[in-house]
Amino acid sequence: MSLARWAEPAVPEGAGSVGGAQGADAGRESPAIHTTDLRKHYRGTTALAGLSMTVRRGEVFGFLGPNGAGKTTAVKLLLGLVRPSGGEAMVLGAPAGDRETRRQIGYLPELFRFPGWLSAREVLFLHCRLLGLARETHPAAVGEALETVGLAPRAGDKVGTFSKGMQQRLGLGVALLGAPALVILDEPTSALDPVGRHDVRRVVLDLRRRGATVFLNTHLLEEAQQICDRVTVIDRGRAVATGTLAELLGGVASVRLRVSGLARTWWAGLTGFGTFSAAGEWVVAEGIAPGAVPDLVAAIVARGGRVEAVVPEHRTLEERFLELLAAP
Ligand SMILES: Nc1ncnc2c1ncn2[C@@H]1O[C@H](COP(=O)(O)OP(=O)(O)O)[C@@H](O)[C@H]1O
Ligand SMILES: [Mg+2]
Repeated sequence: MSLARWAEPAVPEGAGSVGGAQGADAGRESPAIHTTDLRKHYRGTTALAGLSMTVRRGEVFGFLGPNGAGKTTAVKLLLGLVRPSGGEAMVLGAPAGDRETRRQIGYLPELFRFPGWLSAREVLFLHCRLLGLARETHPAAVGEALETVGLAPRAGDKVGTFSKGMQQRLGLGVALLGAPALVILDEPTSALDPVGRHDVRRVVLDLRRRGATVFLNTHLLEEAQQICDRVTVIDRGRAVATGTLAELLGGVASVRLRVSGLARTWWAGLTGFGTFSAAGEWVVAEGIAPGAVPDLVAAIVARGGRVEAVVPEHRTLEERFLELLAAP
């Protein structure tokens, strides 16, 4: 169990307390996370090969990469749970692992297990204590966490009776206790069904509304696309690209459209936009110039068509993502 706010720091006390003294003042202006050439080698394996990145306050930042890319290693370094082999990491204005700063960080580990004999409510109360929250605030904090992750009706049930998805939600609830300024989620939806994934997205967007910064590890392109303001794509311990997904994916080259109210081959006069082909109820438009999708939609509407749906061609996004990963 490596919940950040009570695990012992791997960095020496001295290193942490220096940052702690400056933390409060330096913290406000600083980025949420700033790393410079951060590296981690295990015997014979380079888990992280020089990561430099900046996460702004208040954004939902995706750390997107395939399994084994180094995402969990980066998170452990940010939390001070493992020592870097080189480079630097600052979190909320203090060196990674700083004890005081860790109180402001919520963490959902990739793998965790709560004791099966505790109820969901007991797990949350226990973590309120571990966090050092003022006692009189515990009931409200626990109630809010249960509500937010949708476990209120099962609050009294033992964790041992919970499905994987429910345990994941409870982990998310623990990460939200104490209104953290930064929430780090390591593959939060990997064990979840579509409903659970939707719930996690809702919680993340709610956190952003409240001004928290969210750092989200994921190997799911779609997840990053749906909730992240910006992403760093990581592969083999290296950042291969950073930006909004729209920037990284270089605009949408191809979309699927569902249009009603026009003749079956409604696109006949619109071939200037690209190449059109029918696919069941849908029409696939390929080779659309970046930024031209709204113009295409406007042209369809101007002809009296009703645009029921416009969907970026997913295969194209995945291909672009794979291209990024394949780059030297
Ligand atoms: N404690 C460890 N000892 C040895 N190798 C490790 C350790 N932790 C991670 N690695 C290796 O570092 C690489 C990155 O792992 P990880 O950070 O878990 O990737 P991700 O979270 O992106 O799937 C992998 O090759 C993994 O096997
Ligand atoms: Mg991982």
